[in-house]
Amino acid sequence: MTVTTPPASRAAEILSRPIALNGLTVPNRIVMAPMTRQFSPGGIPGEDVVSYYSRRAAAGVGLIVTEGTYVGHDSAGQSSRIPRFHGEEQLAAWAKVAEGVHAAGGTIVPQLWHIGMVRKQGQPPFADAPAVGPSGIRLDGTEGEGKEMTRQDLDDVIRAFAEAAADAERIGFDGVELHGAHGYLLDQFLWAGTNRRADAYGGDPVARTKFAAEIVAAVRDSVSPEFPVIFRYSQWKSDNYDARLAETPEELEAILTPLAAAGVDVFHASTRRYWLPEFEGSDLNLAGWTKKLTGKPTITVGSVGLDGDFIKGFMGEGSPLKSIDDLLDSLEREEYDMVAVGRALLQDPEWASKVLAGRTDELKSYDAAALKTLS
Ligand SMILES: Cc1cc2nc3c(=O)[nH]c(=O)nc-3n(C[C@H](O)[C@H](O)[C@H](O)COP(=O)(O)O)c2cc1C
Repeated sequence: MTVTTPPASRAAEILSRPIALNGLTVPNRIVMAPMTRQFSPGGIPGEDVVSYYSRRAAAGVGLIVTEGTYVGHDSAGQSSRIPRFHGEEQLAAWAKVAEGVHAAGGTIVPQLWHIGMVRKQGQPPFADAPAVGPSGIRLDGTEGEGKEMTRQDLDDVIRAFAEAAADAERIGFDGVELHGAHGYLLDQFLWAGTNRRADAYGGDPVARTKFAAEIVAAVRDSVSPEFPVIFRYSQWKSDNYDARLAETPEELEAILTPLAAAGVDVFHASTRRYWLPEFEGSDLNLAGWTKKLTGKPTITVGSVGLDGDFIKGFMGEGSPLKSIDDLLDSLEREEYDMVAVGRALLQDPEWASKVLAGRTDELKSYDAAALKTLS
């Protein structure tokens, strides 16, 4: 008897190719986007968090980027339900998350996070800690209770990122992602709107990149040479969607080049809609430009599989489904290398396996109720 195998779906052909990120081989091109969930009381991810990530790895996600997790600096965050990436109990719990994902056949990196001037005074986990940032300026341009970072503050934060990265490798993670996006601390340095420093860390785009590049270099030094370091960045800020880091490809190159030189292996270019061209005169999106300018493997993201903006989705609106044919075209042209999926994967833990098997008729449209559970 002859057994005929059905032709693989186009999605499977393109998305199932393994990829090397420095010393790590990821089994396919599907990434789970980092999503803060606030389900970790005391900053400790529990068994429910292990299952949440493992379920998605078992269903075909090649690389999981965890929710943002605070580095070991008292001003890094402002919630006691967001996981921390420091402290014995917290790290022991994270080790179980990595173990669960590996047992399910996936790979996983923590997203290391410092929120900087977004922090409100008096919030947990360290109520007395001040908000800190490049110039003590909030994202809306106001000067609040924040503090301009001193040399000591810069060194403390650099050390906190480096220690978190070393811990990530020690407890079994496959790499790290540094959160340089969305108006949080690293992005507050990158962006002229929040960085008014007169020292070597402020001024032109290269100077504004100095702090992030020093963090990358310190992280690089604290882990093995083959351990992948991913850098996530964005043009938009969490309360300013029209903000731009770079108005031209030249400005973008000025920011990305020192980061790549400091040791970034992979860039994760965060946009809200992956199909939008970034600069006039080219169809390339932000990830496409990032790859063209740096030559590094690059992850795209933003409303993959969905036809509604994620900000609205975050605020409680649903979102209908959208075809990913255009995304597959760009991957095939190697404009970028991997695709991160956020809300569609929150909604449907089996999104990846369904897409890979061509079972797109079984995909579920996004309902913001998915934000309320950790299923
Ligand atoms: C609930 C939720 C939490 C998020 N938390 C983070 C985060 O911790 N770090 C981060 O870089 N981006 C975060 N994002 C942005 C996502 O990583 C992603 O870029 C965005 O949702 C767009 O992808 P999507 O349209 O596929 O959802 C979050 C998004 C959502 C919906």
